[in-house]
Amino acid sequence: MERYEIIGGKKLYGEVEIDSAKNSVLPIIAASALVDGNVFINKCPKINDVISLVDILKSIGAKAEFINGGLKINCDGLNNCEIGKDLAGELRASVCMLGALLSRFKKVKIAYPGGCSIGKRPIDIHVKCLKKLGATVLEEDGYIECSAKSLKGTNITLDYPSVGATENAILASVFAQGETVIFNCAREPEIKDFVDFLIKAGAKIYGAGTSVVSVKGVKRLKGVEFTPMSDRIEAGTFLIATAVSGGEICLKNCDFKNILNLINKLANYTCKITKFNDIIYIQSGKGGKPFSFSTGPYPLFPTDLQPQASVLSCVSSGRSVISERVFENRFSHFECLKKMGAIVDLDGSVAHVRGVRRLAGAHVCANDLRGGAALVLAGLNAEGLTIVDGAHHVKRGYNNFDEKLRALGADIKLTEK
Ligand code: EPZ
Repeated sequence: MERYEIIGGKKLYGEVEIDSAKNSVLPIIAASALVDGNVFINKCPKINDVISLVDILKSIGAKAEFINGGLKINCDGLNNCEIGKDLAGELRASVCMLGALLSRFKKVKIAYPGGCSIGKRPIDIHVKCLKKLGATVLEEDGYIECSAKSLKGTNITLDYPSVGATENAILASVFAQGETVIFNCAREPEIKDFVDFLIKAGAKIYGAGTSVVSVKGVKRLKGVEFTPMSDRIEAGTFLIATAVSGGEICLKNCDFKNILNLINKLANYTCKITKFNDIIYIQSGKGGKPFSFSTGPYPLFPTDLQPQASVLSCVSSGRSVISERVFENRFSHFECLKKMGAIVDLDGSVAHVRGVRRLAGAHVCANDLRGGAALVLAGLNAEGLTIVDGAHHVKRGYNNFDEKLRALGADIKLTEK
């Protein structure tokens, strides 16, 4: 079992290159099932979730290899539309194979997705979209089975701007007859990036990144090379790491527009942030005021930065209030932060935090991807040794996380227990 061992107190200095966005690369990999010929994803991060989704494609006949820092995929040989629990249960993004394989084969049988235990994470909105397009859907024994004589374009309104359901609705519409208009879409930048990939392959999709997206069905998609957007959540994680550790770092390959909410908050907090092209430079300030925030669908504060930003609230002066409005069970990191000396009262989806000067090292355990990253950031701040068990959660979404932090001066190592 891998774990991080951190001796806190080191300020961060230097520069870090941000990888391509996990939550854009994953739906793009699923979308490759719709493409004739070779897909090449440049600068593809070899993180565990990417490896798991590639394994799913290979299990149904695709060819794929990591080469020259990217990922080459060819789905011409896809010969199966069934995906079992062992593979689908590895990650949430396996759910995108629903829309992709329904489009390709007009039938699909896939086990429920896995992913972080941050809430119930139902797929009712996904199912409604597929039914609206003409699919029959059977859910039993932990599997979803969909089939359709044909998929017909229609109007769909999402009950909630779900990222995954938006992606599945688009994937299931790409080859549908006629036009599909999807209302109340998720507006996350990763959606626009995933759609940019599909458009480059020949899809006719309009409005991605806004809450209304229209898709005109086409006959086929052709192989393309694509460079995904940079990972705004990884960038945000390093910005917050600097705020909780002290120091000043430079992030390369970032698009500050995608994390404007966090950047504005950090600038209003005590940090000095400047940006130039795809570089963001942050100087940590002294934690002289509270750090409160509420999460929500884009462009609100991203839920995927809530655990990390909670650490900053715990070491800021005064009382901070954190409201998690996307997932109903995304506060599991607070138990560990309290073990490290944080003063937190949880009231449902609201955390009331009274800041302390500094956390104290402890032996804690990650429960999910972003909660695990948050515990590492807490260790960077804490007095003494912090051990974070469950490093495999963090490795699902961050490439070389400990190496990048060590290069910035952190005293961190990844060890086997
Ligand atoms: C995507 O998950 C991301 N994962 C998550 O990132 C991210 O936190 C989330 O979007 C929100 O931004 C990937 O892209 C692989 P949702 P997804 O559907 O699609 C409810 C990370 O750390 N809902 O937008 O699963 C759901 O329960 C991960 O990188 C339904 O009720 O998120 C949740 O409360 C964690 N019914 C809310 O909507 C549905 O059918 C948002 O979920 C679907 C969702």
